[in-house]
Amino acid sequence: MNNILNAPFLTELVRTCTNMYNHGWDERNSGNISILLDEADVSACLDVTHVLRTIPTGFSAPELNGRYFLVTGTGKYFKNVQVAPDENLGLVRVVDSGRSVELLWGFSDGGTFTSEFPAHMMSHTARLSVSPENRVVMHCHPANLLAMTYVHDLDERSFTRTLWQMCTECVFIFPEGVNVLPWMVCGTNEIGQATAEKMKTARLVVWAHHGIYAAGRDLDETFGLIETAEKAAEIYLKIAHLPLLQTITDEQLHQLEMRFHVKAREGYLNIRPVQSGPEGARDR
Ligand code: 13P
Ligand code: ZN
Repeated sequence: MNNILNAPFLTELVRTCTNMYNHGWDERNSGNISILLDEADVSACLDVTHVLRTIPTGFSAPELNGRYFLVTGTGKYFKNVQVAPDENLGLVRVVDSGRSVELLWGFSDGGTFTSEFPAHMMSHTARLSVSPENRVVMHCHPANLLAMTYVHDLDERSFTRTLWQMCTECVFIFPEGVNVLPWMVCGTNEIGQATAEKMKTARLVVWAHHGIYAAGRDLDETFGLIETAEKAAEIYLKIAHLPLLQTITDEQLHQLEMRFHVKAREGYLNIRPVQSGPEGARDR
């Protein structure tokens, strides 16, 4: 049996937590990550019949029954994950239609999964219904996106368009845009349900005055989504108080769509429809 501490899913999560802490996105215990694992990868390093504890969740998630997740612990500091992964992380199997999980490894000091477990599990369910390849849900508190929620309109189209206009790559890295939740009490089933609903149409969900959620196929993709949106928010905050002389136009955003074979969220670009004609003009 392999040592779980050498399993790529574990070493990559440790590396990501450290990297996020170093980016300043995860002060104190803030932030949480969950990764969906294959049973084959788990059973290569653990006896999956050996359950350490059963922990109730307080919600149901029937679609995830029997699935395995590596998840960060509540109250744990991302900066410490690299020092003591077995205390700060846990590997769980969802049972009883999501009403409980079985702890197979980790949380060695008696701890438990993140307080945002409802948002994670409900978001996994939502993203898996869109793409079976989804594996990662990530939450953190990046300062520029957070700051932007105080001074920018929270309308999703408007918020997305501003981010797209700040860096050329945004529109093709998150063409579906970012969804935005108004301020809500964190750590509840209600914010979990609201986040999951937003996750059905975008991989990025901003929590006003709190932080951001992202979902993706792997840790790199998910981290990269946050990194790109956060960079755009940083540019916005650098220029928001200055007279704007030029920007990336909608026509240019449309050119990026064409170049990178992506479709910007329906109705988010202001572009004139082109009449179809003998030259095969595109319907925009
Ligand atoms: P946890 O320590 O429970 O993961 O909570 C951190 C957080 O960011 C809450 O939104
Ligand atoms: Zn948070």
